[in-house]
Amino acid sequence: MRVVVCRDADEGAEIATREILAELERKPDLVLGLATGSTPIGIYQRLVAAHRARGVSFARVRTFNLDEYYGLPPGHPQSYRSFMEAHLFGGIDVPPENIHFPPTSEKSIVAACARHEAAIRAAGGIDVQILGIGTNGHIGFNEPTSSLASRTRLKTLAEKTVRDNARFYPEGEKQPTLAATLGIGTILDSRRILLQAFGTAKAEAVRRSVEGPVSSMWPGSALQLHADVTFLLDEGSASELSLRDYFRRVRENEEELRRRGAL
Ligand code: PGA
Repeated sequence: MRVVVCRDADEGAEIATREILAELERKPDLVLGLATGSTPIGIYQRLVAAHRARGVSFARVRTFNLDEYYGLPPGHPQSYRSFMEAHLFGGIDVPPENIHFPPTSEKSIVAACARHEAAIRAAGGIDVQILGIGTNGHIGFNEPTSSLASRTRLKTLAEKTVRDNARFYPEGEKQPTLAATLGIGTILDSRRILLQAFGTAKAEAVRRSVEGPVSSMWPGSALQLHADVTFLLDEGSASELSLRDYFRRVRENEEELRRRGAL
């Protein structure tokens, strides 16, 4: 695992964006796995800026979002599709037909989830998966006790997740408690994973994921099984890591090797 303790969330977003744009340069038809929530917004702002200021094109990129609430009407302001339109898709040139979301309302949700998995495979798999992490350690909406081998399916949201997301819903508005999400197995099939976590509220989830045993009780810990995962943290989210100083030295060495052209 590559664990980078950044100065702040801006530096984390900066590093993630630089690495995504480098991947895009290598592969113009990159398959991007996208996350929602407050954490990835810094990346999306920078991708939109790269498109507007430097003409970086996403015309051949395919995107697969991690999760979507089940049962919200299309165009609902709290849907993740609306979130992505507002923060990314509306500001870049990715064609609508290249954008994919897990199913949200079909009657046969099992068949629809299987079709979503097939669409990811048909695209050649996810090249770069952007992730956040919940305070309970969830990745996507894979809540604690999600099978580490799970595939795209419908999940009941944990009470903590519902509480954490209550801030987005006006008083009195019904909050969804079901969502379709890529499984942990699906996420682990991505070639590369960039997980960002910022703030002390994420410190326990980060410690359990990076330094804890692999356990379905802390779904982020499944990432220990992945060959190319980067955790981009700030001082707050890294504050419970016992190996904080080690990760700082790793970063210094990485920067030195990069300066010498060895990386
Ligand atoms: P957040 O959510 O980015 O809004 O903190 C992350 C998550 O729940 O996965």
